[in-house]
This record gives sequence, structure tokens and C-alpha cells, in this order.
Amino acid sequence: MNSKHLIIAITGASGGLYALRLLRALLIGGHHVSVVLSKFGRYVLQDETGLTASESLSEFLVRLYGEEITRGKLDEYKLGDLTAPIASGSVRVDGMVVIPCSMKTLSGIAHGTSSTLIERAADVTLKEGRPLILVPRETPFNLIHLRNLLAVAEAGARIIPAMPAFYQKPRTFDDLGDFIAGRVLNLLGIEHHLFTPWKDEETLER
Ligand SMILES: Cc1cc2nc3c(=O)[nH]c(=O)nc-3n(C[C@H](O)[C@H](O)[C@H](O)COP(=O)(O)O)c2cc1C
Repeated sequence: MNSKHLIIAITGASGGLYALRLLRALLIGGHHVSVVLSKFGRYVLQDETGLTASESLSEFLVRLYGEEITRGKLDEYKLGDLTAPIASGSVRVDGMVVIPCSMKTLSGIAHGTSSTLIERAADVTLKEGRPLILVPRETPFNLIHLRNLLAVAEAGARIIPAMPAFYQKPRTFDDLGDFIAGRVLNLLGIEHHLFTPWKDEETLER
């Protein structure tokens, strides 16, 4: 199997579930993930998804999804650790996903601030010409948000807004999360079965 090494950053926008479903798919698929949580990324995971204050992300993922998760490798780095391997372009990484991406972190990436490990790793990902995928979540967008989205797109990032589709007939929150996680995997060229691609004849009753 062609195992990939990806950086997954979780920031303080609503929708931590998207990150959990992406991590589940990558780890069950045997991939290596280097994860960074911002302070509010962790807050939102606790508030929305049931991560406890004393639990590590990997403990939580095993509790949610079982031992299958341990097929892959998860390293967790602190937001302030600018000496982490993923802060350097010399380390082999296949891409980075910021999911969900807050407007604050979007701004830091758009302006090349590099003051946290998330911003620095995103900056490195862009300078090395590797795939950078942002999953922004805010509503409504103001002009500053829109300008920052344009700036990161011009710099080479791909944007998958946290906008699940309803033509998949989602039944659960996990279905909604898997749709976004699957679209991220599509852009990374990683095979998955998180949703069924649209098939005109089978889904429409005429
Ligand atoms: C419960 C909660 C939900 C939030 N949801 C969003 C959101 O959807 N989008 C956003 O841009 N900021 C949201 N915020 C605000 C960010 O968490 C805040 O701007 C923070 O500074 C982001 O920092 P970070 O990017 O380092 O995680 C939320 C905050 C809280 C407490």
C-alpha cells in the first residue's frame, strides 16, 4: 500500500467532527498523520464531540472508532512547538489539511505569519509546493474572510468549504462528516468509500 504522511491541523471553528472522520479514514487506511490542535480546536472537540479534558486525541479516536485506528500512525505536536519536524520543509510530507479552519488561522496563513506550528507548517507546505487544503467554516463571510480565502487560493491552497451536500441523503452526522472528509481525500488522491459518487440514473426517480 502507498502510505502517505499528512499534517492535519484542527482549529477552533465549529465542525470538529469533520476532522475526526478524516482522521478515522486516514488511520484505518494505514496512513501516518502528524496532528496539531489549536487551543480552541481542542475546545471545540470537547464541546461538540465529547473529547474529555484528560484524554489525548489518539485515546479518544480509539474510544470512538476502535482498535482499527491503530493500523495508522498518529503523532501529536504542540501548537507552540516550532522545533517540531513538520516545521521544516526538509521532512517528507505529502500534504496538509486544516480542518476545520477558523477565520483566525486562515488569516495567519494568508499573511504568512508563521507564529504557531499550524501557520508555520502551512507556510512550509505552500513554499514546498505541496497540497494545502483548507476547510473553512464561518457564516456569513465578511470581506476580510473573502479576501483571505482569495489570497490563500492564489498562493496555491485548495479550499473545501465545510458545506456538506444533501444529494447523498445523509442520515447521520457521521454521513455529513464523511462527505467532507471524502472530498478532502479526493483532492489528496487517496481512495476511499466514504460516500458514493453521484450516479444520475440510480439516484433520481424520473
Ligand atoms: C464554540 C466556538 C465555536 C466557534 N466557531 C467558529 C467558527 O465556526 N469559525 C470561526 O472562524 N471561528 C469560530 N470560533 C472562534 C475561534 O475559535 C477563535 O477565533 C479562535 O481565536 C481561533 O483560534 P485558532 O484558529 O487558533 O483555533 C468559535 C469559538 C467557539 C468558542
